[in-house]
Amino acid sequence: MQITVNGQTQELTVKDNTLLIDLIRDQLHLTGTHSGCDTTQCGCCTVLMDQVAVKSCTILARQAEGASIQTIEGLAMQHLHPVQEAFSQEHGLQCGYCTPGMIMSTVYLLQRNPNPSDEQIKEGLAGNICRCTGYVNIVKAVKSAAKKMQETNV
Ligand code: FES
Ligand code: FES
Repeated sequence: MQITVNGQTQELTVKDNTLLIDLIRDQLHLTGTHSGCDTTQCGCCTVLMDQVAVKSCTILARQAEGASIQTIEGLAMQHLHPVQEAFSQEHGLQCGYCTPGMIMSTVYLLQRNPNPSDEQIKEGLAGNICRCTGYVNIVKAVKSAAKKMQETNV
């Protein structure tokens, strides 16, 4: 099957029951996408598929045939993405396990709503669980990222 991951189009052989997360982690060795539950609850495995946030543990790789996938590794170009920078500066992470998924969901949220309220941020990240319960700083980081993105027009 053909799939584009972080801008690179590739031909890959996958089994019918291969999950997208396994293709990303095991076949492409992009281990920034984490697996936290495998039951669609934690959001650690969130990636963008054709610019929409999806939980990659819940999608068969074949369902992504022809799609463009962006993982956390594809977010930073020359510099960290403003959302990555904001999470770092506002201490929006503790152990960091949930962070790639939180960041990908934040990118998706800010694409749709560049200036979200606290409530809208909580709603936008409702599918992402932080076991370290760092939610206060995560909300701060999202607000800071929104400001940075507006200032830099990203
Ligand atoms: S590993 Fe996919 S939602 Fe938890
Ligand atoms: S920072 Fe540890 S799970 Fe969120």
